[in-house]
Amino acid sequence: MAPVPNRPSTLGTPRLGDWTMATLRFRGGKPLWGGVRVGGRKNAAVAVLPAALLASEPVRLDNLPRNVDVATSIALLRALGARVVRDGRGAVWVDGAGLARTAVEPMLAGRLRASAYLLGVLVARCGEAEVPLPGGCDIGARPIDQHIKGLRAMGAEVEVAHGIVSAKAARLRAAHIYLDVTSVGSTINLMLAASRAEGVTIIENAAKEPHVVDVATLLQAMGVPVVGAGTDAIKVRGTAVAHGCEHVIIPDEIEAATYLIAAAGTAGEVTVDGVIPRHLEPVSAKLREAGVEVQEWGEAIRVRGPLRPRAIHIKTLPYPGFPTDAQQPMTALLARADGASTVTENIWEDRFRFVEGLRQMGARIRVEGRTARVDGVARLSGAAVDATDLRGAAALALAALFAAGETELRRAEHLDRGYEGFVEKMTSLGADVRRVGADGAHGPEDLDRDGAERLDVEHGAEPRRRAAAAEG
Ligand code: EPU
Repeated sequence: MAPVPNRPSTLGTPRLGDWTMATLRFRGGKPLWGGVRVGGRKNAAVAVLPAALLASEPVRLDNLPRNVDVATSIALLRALGARVVRDGRGAVWVDGAGLARTAVEPMLAGRLRASAYLLGVLVARCGEAEVPLPGGCDIGARPIDQHIKGLRAMGAEVEVAHGIVSAKAARLRAAHIYLDVTSVGSTINLMLAASRAEGVTIIENAAKEPHVVDVATLLQAMGVPVVGAGTDAIKVRGTAVAHGCEHVIIPDEIEAATYLIAAAGTAGEVTVDGVIPRHLEPVSAKLREAGVEVQEWGEAIRVRGPLRPRAIHIKTLPYPGFPTDAQQPMTALLARADGASTVTENIWEDRFRFVEGLRQMGARIRVEGRTARVDGVARLSGAAVDATDLRGAAALALAALFAAGETELRRAEHLDRGYEGFVEKMTSLGADVRRVGADGAHGPEDLDRDGAERLDVEHGAEPRRRAAAAEG
């Protein structure tokens, strides 16, 4: 494997003031038209970045999206002593050789749910980890009891005190773990820990999300045998040493869903490219039910929205059920459907806080427990609204595009956590949207803004593959 580029880069170092308090101003009511390409999946990216630390050699990650959560993940890795740089082809290299610390930086960990993955990675690689209870969107209780239960089953001593989770294990051993809830985070975390455990770990009632499969693909490329990813029983054979590799992150189906729903709600016609249509089936099927024309081919999906969608019923479920992360944008669409829809949120107990913003725009929505009853209105109107979380921000942004008149979306920095170039992509589809005010001058696209810091490296994975092939 060729060496990682040697010069320092500021890639991904979040300059924390840059994206606080962003405001977006929309003039709605225009049909979206054209094509847009989606980036790599955020929730895969924030898992494969820490996973790369398990390798004894550099790992090359392609299609890493440039958003704030990814930048925070990179900063977390760097704070531990890992080197993370971008090469001249846009790929990111992670080199964990210099890993110097096992205590995770609390300020950064508090911004991100995915910081929990460092628990599995550090205890597997270094025998100990101190990880602050992870942050992330405020969408209800976000326990990590299943992560802890699994690590304990593998022989780790785990304690939680003063908001810090500490885990220790001289050597993890394989275990047969049954998850009490189907959880993406604990499935991934336990796969990561199991990659260095002695023997074959079995994770039952595992999450089947495509990003779980993506992490398994990376582990396999590092030489860790994993079978069953994408089913509810995953087996991981621990290996003492994982090697370097290259990996391409799968497309972001929630980013894609956001643009498809936006097109559907503006009675527009948009082709979203660079996707795996199969991963979007739960969303496409519901769009069809709502009277949206959906065509799929190769790596593309095109939707054409009706003048007004039909009312439908949605229940969020683990994959392949309807994704909770698309629930909020879909609720915005149903706010202007013809008839009464219901939306039941089964994953997160508090993922309807954005509804207040929709109501301010004229939506008629009543939330009772985990279900929202949405009485569609013919017309939403622009208003000044506040985003509450990442997908809630996306939902309000879509409602702003559907609405007549001007909308000011405050706290729009939530969007930057999970969408790369949201304003630019929407503008390219004909949306009238811009960042306003001094606070809106910077976005996460600035994270790698200095071309001089982009590094050119020898593409290292190719020679390695050739060498492996030569060895037979
Ligand atoms: N849960 C437990 N105990 C645990 C872990 C989870 O009870 O130890 C429960 C949760 O409270 C929740 C359910 O299990 O009710 C599912 O949680 P899961 O672990 O699957 O969620 P996560 O890993 O914390 C990821 C995504 C979320 C997405 C969920 C569900 C990342 C970084 N986050 O969270 O993404 O909603 O899976 O698909 O991968 C987003 O992108 O906007 C987002 C919130």
